Amino acid sequence: MDNCIGVSRLVMDYGKVRAVDDVSFDVGYGRVFGFLGPNGAGKTTTIKVLTTLVHPTAGQVSIFGKDVVRHAKEIKKRIGVVLQEPSFEGNVKVEKALDLYGMLWGLPGEKRRDRVRELLDKFDLQEIKGMKNDELSIGQRRRVQVAREFMHDMDLLFLDEPTVGLDPAARRMLLDYVKKHVHGGLTVFFTTHIMEEVEYLCDDIAIINKGRIVAIDTPAGLKQKYGGIKAVEIKLKEASAQSVMWLVRPISGDTMIETPASDTIRISSKDAQDMLVKIIEALAKSGVQMESVSVNPPTLEEVFLTVVDGARSSS
Ligand SMILES: Nc1ncnc2c1ncn2[C@@H]1O[C@H](COP(=O)(O)OP(=O)(O)OP(=O)(O)O)[C@@H](O)[C@H]1O
Ligand SMILES: [Mg+2]
Repeated sequence: MDNCIGVSRLVMDYGKVRAVDDVSFDVGYGRVFGFLGPNGAGKTTTIKVLTTLVHPTAGQVSIFGKDVVRHAKEIKKRIGVVLQEPSFEGNVKVEKALDLYGMLWGLPGEKRRDRVRELLDKFDLQEIKGMKNDELSIGQRRRVQVAREFMHDMDLLFLDEPTVGLDPAARRMLLDYVKKHVHGGLTVFFTTHIMEEVEYLCDDIAIINKGRIVAIDTPAGLKQKYGGIKAVEIKLKEASAQSVMWLVRPISGDTMIETPASDTIRISSKDAQDMLVKIIEALAKSGVQMESVSVNPPTLEEVFLTVVDGARSSS
């Protein structure tokens, strides 16, 4: 009863395709759970099982301590879901669409009007409230779709890549709005491909790959666990990063190299520090001047790539 979501040995098959393969995890009340993984990993499928839209092939799932198959109706009343695919009528105006959704959830008139007003404001929809859904841009449509879900009260909200197509301001606004509700007691199950969003919002993270969970921890815990991997950054004084790659490549081998700025080289590897010494030597020998050098803990993106890649090559 302590957990909001409890998943034990969940399996989900679509015919011969095993989309979710023996997955177990728990999500405590009031937490934001980030569910990450490459395309086709099984995130949306898991959400569909957890939100009672499809029946699991095997395993147990409980939401609010109740079995998701046996108590689907009860559970549905207390959850919100924003799916990946767009989900409503094209010729209904934005304001009307919010109102109708509130009506569907049985919100009384005045509460509905207040809620519509708040959401039009918060999701920056005032200017387009008289437009039909079909006439909206992709990002505007997504904003309406997410806003709409906040028309009703809920204890648990599933957001499947809610920020796709949103501009930076809209994205930040959405994350802050979700955060505010989490402080009010909401539990959130969240998928995204953007690691900064995970850092900003999530208390716990699971990384799923090919239907299996390959890592699960807090963001800090994950970084610590994969902390052997360090990112080394060398900022050059005058030369461009590209122009010295011929010096760096033979030392770094297959290691991932990025150029986050035109004068900066970033290497992420377990051997980053050894490489760093060699690269500095090589650069100095060729008379390339360096502005600064730093060794940093891995970013969540690096952890993600390592974990997913590791799972790929070991399978
Ligand atoms: N309705 C379906 N019928 C058959 N196979 C499906 C169906 N839906 C999903 N799959 C398969 O199940 C696997 C998991 O898909 P899922 O949509 O859960 O991935 P995802 O992690 O949400 O990916 P993305 O990041 O692209 O949204 C994929 O191999 C996909 O092809
Ligand atoms: Mg998906």
